[in-house]
Amino acid sequence: MNTEVIENVPKTMRAMVLTGHGGMDRYEFHSDWPVPDMGPDQVLIKVHACGLNNTDVNTRSGWYSKAVSEATTGDSYTDIDKDDPTWGGAPLTFPRIQGADICGSVVSVGADADATLLGKRVMADCWLRDWSDPEGLNAIGYVGSECDGGFADYMVIDHRNVMAIDSTLTHAQLATFSCSYTTAENLLNRAAVRAGDTVLITGASGGVGGALVQLANRRGARTIAMASQSKQAQVALLKPEFILDRSPGNLGAALMEHLGQDTVSVVVDVVGGPYFSTLINVLERGGRYATSGAIAGPMVSLDLRTLYLRDLSFQGCTITSLNVFPDLLGYIERGEISPVLAGTWPLEELVAAQSAFIEKAHVGNIVVTMEAS
Ligand SMILES: NC(=O)c1ccc[n+]([C@@H]2O[C@H](COP(=O)([O-])OP(=O)(O)OC[C@H]3O[C@@H](n4cnc5c(N)ncnc54)[C@H](OP(=O)(O)O)[C@@H]3O)[C@@H](O)[C@H]2O)c1
Repeated sequence: MNTEVIENVPKTMRAMVLTGHGGMDRYEFHSDWPVPDMGPDQVLIKVHACGLNNTDVNTRSGWYSKAVSEATTGDSYTDIDKDDPTWGGAPLTFPRIQGADICGSVVSVGADADATLLGKRVMADCWLRDWSDPEGLNAIGYVGSECDGGFADYMVIDHRNVMAIDSTLTHAQLATFSCSYTTAENLLNRAAVRAGDTVLITGASGGVGGALVQLANRRGARTIAMASQSKQAQVALLKPEFILDRSPGNLGAALMEHLGQDTVSVVVDVVGGPYFSTLINVLERGGRYATSGAIAGPMVSLDLRTLYLRDLSFQGCTITSLNVFPDLLGYIERGEISPVLAGTWPLEELVAAQSAFIEKAHVGNIVVTMEAS
Protein backbone atom coordinates (compact mmCIF):
# COMPACT_ATOMS: atom_id res chain seq x y z
CA MET A 1 0.00 0.00 0.00
CA ASN A 2 1.23 3.50 -0.79
CA THR A 3 1.54 5.24 2.56
CA GLU A 4 3.59 8.09 3.94
CA VAL A 5 5.31 7.59 7.28
CA ILE A 6 7.30 10.10 9.34
CA GLU A 7 8.76 7.84 11.98
CA ASN A 8 9.60 4.19 12.49
CA VAL A 9 6.41 2.76 13.86
CA PRO A 10 6.94 -0.24 16.13
CA LYS A 11 5.02 -3.47 15.64
CA THR A 12 3.71 -3.51 19.21
CA MET A 13 2.56 -0.91 21.71
CA ARG A 14 1.19 -0.36 25.19
CA ALA A 15 -2.60 -0.62 25.45
CA MET A 16 -5.26 -0.80 28.15
CA VAL A 17 -7.59 -3.45 26.82
CA LEU A 18 -11.20 -4.02 27.93
CA THR A 19 -11.84 -7.75 27.80
CA GLY A 20 -15.60 -7.78 28.45
CA HIS A 21 -18.46 -6.10 30.34
CA GLY A 22 -18.01 -6.07 34.08
CA GLY A 23 -15.89 -4.48 36.80
CA MET A 24 -12.47 -2.86 36.68
CA ASP A 25 -10.95 -6.34 36.57
CA ARG A 26 -12.01 -6.52 32.93
CA TYR A 27 -9.18 -4.11 32.05
CA GLU A 28 -5.83 -5.68 31.09
CA PHE A 29 -2.69 -3.68 30.53
CA HIS A 30 -0.48 -4.98 27.71
CA SER A 31 2.95 -3.74 26.67
CA ASP A 32 3.09 -5.86 23.49
CA TRP A 33 -0.32 -5.25 21.89
CA PRO A 34 -0.19 -5.10 18.07
CA VAL A 35 -0.07 -1.61 16.56
CA PRO A 36 -3.24 -1.44 14.42
CA ASP A 37 -3.12 -1.78 10.64
CA MET A 38 -4.14 1.35 8.76
CA GLY A 39 -6.71 1.37 5.92
CA PRO A 40 -6.29 3.55 2.78
CA ASP A 41 -8.64 6.26 4.13
CA GLN A 42 -7.10 6.24 7.59
CA VAL A 43 -4.31 7.92 9.46
CA LEU A 44 -2.14 6.37 12.17
CA ILE A 45 -2.00 8.57 15.26
CA LYS A 46 0.64 8.44 17.95
CA VAL A 47 -1.52 9.22 20.97
CA HIS A 48 -0.15 11.79 23.43
CA ALA A 49 -3.13 12.01 25.78
CA CYS A 50 -6.68 10.69 25.98
CA GLY A 51 -9.53 11.96 28.15
CA LEU A 52 -11.93 9.81 30.19
CA ASN A 53 -15.70 9.94 29.80
CA ASN A 54 -18.75 8.31 31.34
CA THR A 55 -19.22 6.31 28.17
CA ASP A 56 -16.06 4.36 29.13
CA VAL A 57 -17.68 3.52 32.46
CA ASN A 58 -21.16 2.89 31.07
CA THR A 59 -19.88 0.64 28.29
CA ARG A 60 -17.68 -1.37 30.63
CA SER A 61 -20.39 -1.83 33.24
CA GLY A 62 -23.27 -2.41 30.81
CA TRP A 63 -25.21 0.59 32.18
CA TYR A 64 -26.69 1.42 28.76
CA SER A 65 -28.75 -1.80 28.85
CA LYS A 66 -32.51 -1.33 29.20
CA ALA A 67 -32.26 -3.83 32.06
CA VAL A 68 -30.51 -1.13 34.14
CA SER A 69 -32.59 1.69 35.67
CA GLU A 70 -30.32 3.14 38.34
CA ALA A 71 -27.87 6.05 38.47
CA THR A 72 -24.38 5.52 37.07
CA THR A 73 -22.27 4.03 39.85
CA GLY A 74 -19.48 2.34 37.91
CA ASP A 75 -20.57 -1.03 39.35
CA SER A 76 -20.97 -3.90 36.91
CA TYR A 77 -24.38 -5.38 36.14
CA THR A 78 -24.94 -9.10 36.04
CA ASP A 79 -28.47 -8.90 34.64
CA ILE A 80 -27.72 -6.86 31.49
CA ASP A 81 -29.30 -7.93 28.27
CA LYS A 82 -26.42 -9.16 26.16
CA ASP A 83 -28.04 -7.62 23.06
CA ASP A 84 -28.15 -3.96 24.20
CA PRO A 85 -25.27 -3.13 26.55
CA THR A 86 -23.81 -0.23 24.53
CA TRP A 87 -24.79 3.36 23.72
CA GLY A 88 -26.08 2.33 20.25
CA GLY A 89 -28.02 -0.70 21.51
CA ALA A 90 -25.80 -3.22 19.70
CA PRO A 91 -23.41 -5.72 21.28
CA LEU A 92 -19.74 -4.77 21.50
CA THR A 93 -16.92 -6.97 20.31
CA PHE A 94 -14.00 -7.65 22.65
CA PRO A 95 -11.14 -7.08 23.16
CA ARG A 96 -11.72 -3.35 22.84
CA ILE A 97 -9.47 -0.35 23.52
CA GLN A 98 -11.63 2.49 24.84
CA GLY A 99 -10.86 6.22 24.92
CA ALA A 100 -12.57 8.89 22.81
CA ASP A 101 -10.85 12.20 23.60
CA ILE A 102 -7.62 11.96 21.67
CA CYS A 103 -4.78 14.39 21.25
CA GLY A 104 -1.95 12.94 19.16
CA SER A 105 0.30 13.34 16.16
CA VAL A 106 -0.26 11.81 12.74
CA VAL A 107 2.71 9.56 12.02
CA SER A 108 1.43 7.80 8.91
CA VAL A 109 -1.29 8.44 6.31
CA GLY A 110 -3.10 5.94 4.10
CA ALA A 111 -2.91 6.06 0.31
CA ASP A 112 -6.26 7.86 -0.03
CA ALA A 113 -6.00 9.97 3.13
CA ASP A 114 -5.15 13.67 3.40
CA ALA A 115 -1.34 13.74 3.28
CA THR A 116 -1.18 17.29 4.69
CA LEU A 117 -2.08 15.79 8.10
CA LEU A 118 1.27 14.00 8.29
CA GLY A 119 3.27 15.27 11.26
CA LYS A 120 0.44 17.48 12.56
CA ARG A 121 -0.84 17.55 16.13
CA VAL A 122 -4.49 16.61 15.83
CA MET A 123 -7.72 16.05 17.68
CA ALA A 124 -10.43 13.67 16.52
CA ASP A 125 -14.18 13.95 16.12
CA CYS A 126 -15.44 10.92 18.08
CA TRP A 127 -18.27 10.05 15.67
CA LEU A 128 -17.50 7.35 13.10
CA ARG A 129 -19.64 8.38 10.17
CA ASP A 130 -20.90 6.79 6.98
CA TRP A 131 -19.11 9.18 4.64
CA SER A 132 -21.71 8.64 1.88
CA ASP A 133 -24.27 10.11 4.33
CA PRO A 134 -22.23 11.87 7.02
CA GLU A 135 -25.21 13.58 8.68
CA GLY A 136 -27.18 10.31 8.83
CA LEU A 137 -28.04 9.07 12.30
CA ASN A 138 -28.00 5.33 11.73
CA ALA A 139 -24.78 3.89 10.29
CA ILE A 140 -22.62 5.41 12.96
CA GLY A 141 -20.21 4.39 15.69
CA TYR A 142 -18.14 5.97 18.45
CA VAL A 143 -14.39 5.97 18.96
CA GLY A 144 -13.54 3.53 21.73
CA SER A 145 -16.83 1.70 21.36
CA GLU A 146 -17.36 0.49 17.78
CA CYS A 147 -13.63 0.82 17.03
CA ASP A 148 -10.50 0.98 19.16
CA GLY A 149 -9.74 4.32 20.78
CA GLY A 150 -6.94 6.20 22.46
CA PHE A 151 -6.03 4.29 25.62
CA ALA A 152 -2.95 3.04 23.75
CA ASP A 153 0.21 4.38 22.17
CA TYR A 154 -1.26 4.30 18.64
CA MET A 155 -4.68 4.26 17.01
CA VAL A 156 -6.10 4.45 13.48
CA ILE A 157 -9.04 6.54 12.34
CA ASP A 158 -10.56 7.87 9.12
CA HIS A 159 -8.68 11.00 8.04
CA ARG A 160 -12.00 12.88 7.77
CA ASN A 161 -12.42 12.53 11.56
CA VAL A 162 -9.16 14.32 12.22
CA MET A 163 -8.23 18.01 12.28
CA ALA A 164 -4.93 19.71 12.95
CA ILE A 165 -5.02 22.01 15.98
CA ASP A 166 -2.99 25.19 16.29
CA SER A 167 -2.84 25.89 20.02
CA THR A 168 -0.43 26.53 22.87
CA LEU A 169 -2.47 24.22 25.13
CA THR A 170 -0.78 21.02 26.34
CA HIS A 171 -1.67 17.59 24.97
CA ALA A 172 -3.55 16.78 28.18
CA GLN A 173 -5.50 20.03 28.06
CA LEU A 174 -6.52 19.37 24.45
CA ALA A 175 -7.62 15.85 25.44
CA THR A 176 -10.35 17.35 27.66
CA PHE A 177 -12.42 18.70 24.80
CA SER A 178 -13.74 16.34 22.13
CA CYS A 179 -16.51 14.36 23.79
CA SER A 180 -17.70 16.86 26.42
CA TYR A 181 -17.56 20.01 24.33
CA THR A 182 -19.03 18.59 21.11
CA THR A 183 -21.85 17.13 23.21
CA ALA A 184 -22.40 20.50 24.88
CA GLU A 185 -22.30 22.50 21.65
CA ASN A 186 -24.71 20.04 20.05
CA LEU A 187 -27.12 20.44 22.99
CA LEU A 188 -27.03 24.23 22.62
CA ASN A 189 -27.54 24.02 18.85
CA ARG A 190 -30.50 21.65 19.16
CA ALA A 191 -32.09 23.82 21.85
CA ALA A 192 -31.40 26.87 19.64
CA VAL A 193 -29.77 28.72 22.55
CA ARG A 194 -29.04 32.34 21.70
CA ALA A 195 -28.19 35.66 23.32
CA GLY A 196 -30.71 36.58 25.99
CA ASP A 197 -31.80 33.01 26.78
CA THR A 198 -31.76 32.04 30.44
CA VAL A 199 -30.11 28.61 30.52
CA LEU A 200 -30.20 26.35 33.57
CA ILE A 201 -27.32 23.84 33.45
CA THR A 202 -27.20 20.72 35.62
CA GLY A 203 -23.95 18.91 36.49
CA ALA A 204 -21.97 22.10 35.81
CA SER A 205 -18.94 20.75 37.67
CA GLY A 206 -18.66 17.91 35.17
CA GLY A 207 -17.15 17.69 31.71
CA VAL A 208 -20.29 18.41 29.69
CA GLY A 209 -21.85 20.78 32.25
CA GLY A 210 -18.72 22.94 32.48
CA ALA A 211 -18.53 23.00 28.70
CA LEU A 212 -22.17 24.08 28.58
CA VAL A 213 -21.47 27.05 30.86
CA GLN A 214 -18.57 28.24 28.71
CA LEU A 215 -20.27 27.61 25.36
CA ALA A 216 -23.60 29.17 26.39
CA ASN A 217 -21.74 32.22 27.76
CA ARG A 218 -19.96 32.45 24.41
CA ARG A 219 -23.36 32.82 22.74
CA GLY A 220 -24.39 35.62 25.09
CA ALA A 221 -26.91 33.55 27.04
CA ARG A 222 -27.43 34.05 30.79
CA THR A 223 -26.13 30.90 32.47
CA ILE A 224 -27.22 29.40 35.78
CA ALA A 225 -24.98 26.53 36.90
CA MET A 226 -26.02 23.78 39.32
CA ALA A 227 -23.24 22.08 41.29
CA SER A 228 -22.41 20.55 44.66
CA GLN A 229 -21.36 23.08 47.29
CA SER A 230 -17.78 21.78 47.51
CA LYS A 231 -17.22 22.36 43.78
CA GLN A 232 -18.81 25.78 43.44
CA ALA A 233 -15.62 27.85 43.83
CA GLN A 234 -14.09 26.08 40.83
CA VAL A 235 -17.32 26.25 38.83
CA ALA A 236 -17.37 30.02 39.45
CA LEU A 237 -14.16 30.28 37.38
CA LEU A 238 -16.25 29.30 34.35
CA LYS A 239 -18.23 32.50 34.91
CA PRO A 240 -21.85 31.42 35.11
CA GLU A 241 -24.11 34.33 36.08
CA PHE A 242 -24.80 32.50 39.33
CA ILE A 243 -24.56 29.03 40.87
CA LEU A 244 -27.23 26.99 42.62
CA ASP A 245 -26.86 23.82 44.64
CA ARG A 246 -27.24 20.46 42.95
CA SER A 247 -30.95 20.16 43.89
CA PRO A 248 -32.44 23.17 45.71
CA GLY A 249 -35.61 22.44 47.70
CA ASN A 250 -37.45 25.36 46.07
CA LEU A 251 -35.88 25.88 42.65
CA GLY A 252 -38.37 28.56 41.56
CA ALA A 253 -37.59 30.64 44.67
CA ALA A 254 -33.83 30.22 44.16
CA LEU A 255 -34.18 31.46 40.58
CA MET A 256 -36.37 34.37 41.67
CA GLU A 257 -33.76 35.44 44.22
CA HIS A 258 -30.95 35.67 41.64
CA LEU A 259 -32.75 36.16 38.32
CA GLY A 260 -35.82 38.15 39.34
CA GLN A 261 -38.06 35.50 37.76
CA ASP A 262 -38.90 31.93 38.73
CA THR A 263 -38.60 30.42 35.25
CA VAL A 264 -35.92 29.93 32.59
CA SER A 265 -36.19 29.65 28.82
CA VAL A 266 -33.92 26.60 28.52
CA VAL A 267 -32.90 23.67 30.74
CA VAL A 268 -29.87 21.72 29.53
CA ASP A 269 -29.66 18.58 31.59
CA VAL A 270 -27.02 15.85 31.77
CA VAL A 271 -28.09 14.60 35.21
CA GLY A 272 -31.77 13.49 34.99
CA GLY A 273 -32.94 11.25 37.84
CA PRO A 274 -35.33 12.29 40.62
CA TYR A 275 -34.88 16.06 40.11
CA PHE A 276 -36.09 15.97 36.49
CA SER A 277 -39.70 17.01 37.15
CA THR A 278 -38.54 19.96 39.26
CA LEU A 279 -36.43 21.16 36.32
CA ILE A 280 -39.36 20.85 33.93
CA ASN A 281 -41.58 22.86 36.27
CA VAL A 282 -39.33 25.94 36.02
CA LEU A 283 -39.45 26.10 32.21
CA GLU A 284 -41.30 29.15 30.94
CA ARG A 285 -44.18 28.74 28.46
CA GLY A 286 -42.60 27.67 25.16
CA GLY A 287 -39.40 26.66 27.01
CA ARG A 288 -36.92 24.11 25.72
CA TYR A 289 -35.44 21.09 27.51
CA ALA A 290 -32.43 19.30 26.02
CA THR A 291 -30.65 16.24 27.42
CA SER A 292 -27.67 14.07 26.61
CA GLY A 293 -27.20 12.23 29.86
CA ALA A 294 -28.82 10.72 32.92
CA ILE A 295 -26.03 10.18 35.41
CA ALA A 296 -28.46 10.41 38.36
CA GLY A 297 -30.81 7.89 36.75
CA PRO A 298 -32.52 7.30 33.39
CA MET A 299 -36.06 6.75 34.69
CA VAL A 300 -37.94 10.02 35.29
CA SER A 301 -41.46 11.15 35.94
CA LEU A 302 -43.16 13.50 33.48
CA ASP A 303 -46.60 15.10 33.79
CA LEU A 304 -47.70 15.21 30.15
CA ARG A 305 -50.02 18.10 30.96
CA THR A 306 -46.98 20.23 31.78
CA LEU A 307 -45.40 19.30 28.45
CA TYR A 308 -48.40 20.17 26.29
CA LEU A 309 -50.21 22.86 28.27
CA ARG A 310 -46.95 24.85 28.52
CA ASP A 311 -45.95 24.29 24.88
CA LEU A 312 -42.59 22.84 25.86
CA SER A 313 -40.05 21.30 23.44
CA PHE A 314 -37.88 18.33 24.36
CA GLN A 315 -34.66 17.41 22.56
CA GLY A 316 -32.67 14.21 22.96
CA CYS A 317 -29.13 14.85 21.78
CA THR A 318 -26.35 12.42 21.04
CA ILE A 319 -25.00 12.36 17.48
CA THR A 320 -23.53 15.70 16.51
CA SER A 321 -23.80 17.49 13.18
CA LEU A 322 -20.63 17.61 11.07
CA ASN A 323 -20.01 21.29 11.72
CA VAL A 324 -19.81 20.94 15.51
CA PHE A 325 -16.25 19.57 15.69
CA PRO A 326 -14.62 22.16 13.37
CA ASP A 327 -16.58 24.90 15.16
CA LEU A 328 -15.17 23.65 18.48
CA LEU A 329 -11.58 23.68 17.20
CA GLY A 330 -12.11 27.26 16.07
CA TYR A 331 -13.25 28.27 19.57
CA ILE A 332 -10.16 26.57 21.07
CA GLU A 333 -7.74 28.16 18.60
CA ARG A 334 -9.25 31.63 19.18
CA GLY A 335 -9.10 31.14 22.97
CA GLU A 336 -12.87 31.54 23.35
CA ILE A 337 -13.06 28.54 25.71
CA SER A 338 -10.62 27.07 28.24
CA PRO A 339 -9.88 23.51 29.29
CA VAL A 340 -10.70 22.39 32.82
CA LEU A 341 -8.10 19.71 33.47
CA ALA A 342 -8.75 18.07 36.84
CA GLY A 343 -5.78 15.70 36.75
CA THR A 344 -3.63 13.35 34.72
CA TRP A 345 -2.65 9.72 35.22
CA PRO A 346 -0.24 7.59 33.18
CA LEU A 347 -1.88 5.07 30.82
CA GLU A 348 -0.82 2.16 33.03
CA GLU A 349 -2.92 3.69 35.84
CA LEU A 350 -6.14 4.02 33.89
CA VAL A 351 -8.00 2.00 36.54
CA ALA A 352 -6.96 4.51 39.23
CA ALA A 353 -7.92 7.37 36.90
CA GLN A 354 -11.35 5.81 36.28
CA SER A 355 -11.84 5.24 40.02
CA ALA A 356 -11.22 8.96 40.64
CA PHE A 357 -13.54 9.80 37.75
CA ILE A 358 -16.32 7.67 39.30
CA GLU A 359 -15.74 9.13 42.77
CA LYS A 360 -16.72 12.57 41.37
CA ALA A 361 -14.74 14.69 43.79
CA HIS A 362 -13.20 16.53 40.83
CA VAL A 363 -14.25 19.42 38.61
CA GLY A 364 -13.74 19.16 34.85
CA ASN A 365 -12.06 16.34 32.97
CA ILE A 366 -9.57 13.57 33.84
CA VAL A 367 -6.98 12.52 31.27
CA VAL A 368 -4.43 9.72 30.83
CA THR A 369 -1.12 10.56 29.23
CA MET A 370 1.17 8.32 27.22
CA GLU A 371 4.59 9.27 28.51
CA ALA A 372 6.26 6.01 29.51
CA SER A 373 6.34 5.80 33.30
N1 LIG B 1 -25.09 11.52 24.68
C1 LIG B 1 -23.80 11.77 24.59
O1 LIG B 1 -23.24 11.79 23.49
C2 LIG B 1 -23.02 12.07 25.83
C3 LIG B 1 -21.73 12.59 25.75
C4 LIG B 1 -21.07 12.93 26.94
C5 LIG B 1 -21.67 12.66 28.16
N2 LIG B 1 -22.89 12.09 28.19
C6 LIG B 1 -23.55 11.82 29.48
O2 LIG B 1 -23.77 13.05 30.16
C7 LIG B 1 -23.69 12.86 31.57
C8 LIG B 1 -22.68 13.85 32.12
O3 LIG B 1 -21.42 13.60 31.53
P1 LIG B 1 -20.12 14.34 32.06
O4 LIG B 1 -19.00 13.86 31.25
O5 LIG B 1 -20.37 15.79 32.16
O6 LIG B 1 -20.06 13.74 33.52
P2 LIG B 1 -19.16 14.10 34.77
O7 LIG B 1 -17.96 14.83 34.32
O8 LIG B 1 -19.03 12.83 35.49
O9 LIG B 1 -20.07 15.12 35.58
C9 LIG B 1 -21.35 14.82 35.97
C10 LIG B 1 -21.74 15.78 37.09
O10 LIG B 1 -23.08 15.48 37.45
C11 LIG B 1 -23.28 15.86 38.79
N3 LIG B 1 -24.22 14.93 39.42
C12 LIG B 1 -25.45 15.26 39.84
N4 LIG B 1 -26.07 14.18 40.34
C13 LIG B 1 -25.22 13.17 40.23
C14 LIG B 1 -25.30 11.81 40.59
N5 LIG B 1 -26.40 11.26 41.14
N6 LIG B 1 -24.23 11.03 40.35
C15 LIG B 1 -23.11 11.55 39.79
N7 LIG B 1 -22.99 12.85 39.41
C16 LIG B 1 -24.04 13.65 39.65
C17 LIG B 1 -21.92 15.88 39.45
O11 LIG B 1 -21.72 17.21 39.91
P3 LIG B 1 -22.06 17.71 41.39
O12 LIG B 1 -21.39 16.79 42.34
O13 LIG B 1 -21.49 19.08 41.38
O14 LIG B 1 -23.56 17.68 41.50
C18 LIG B 1 -20.93 15.61 38.34
O15 LIG B 1 -19.85 16.52 38.33
C19 LIG B 1 -23.32 11.39 31.76
O16 LIG B 1 -24.51 10.67 32.01
C20 LIG B 1 -22.73 10.97 30.42
O17 LIG B 1 -22.87 9.59 30.18
C21 LIG B 1 -23.56 11.79 27.05
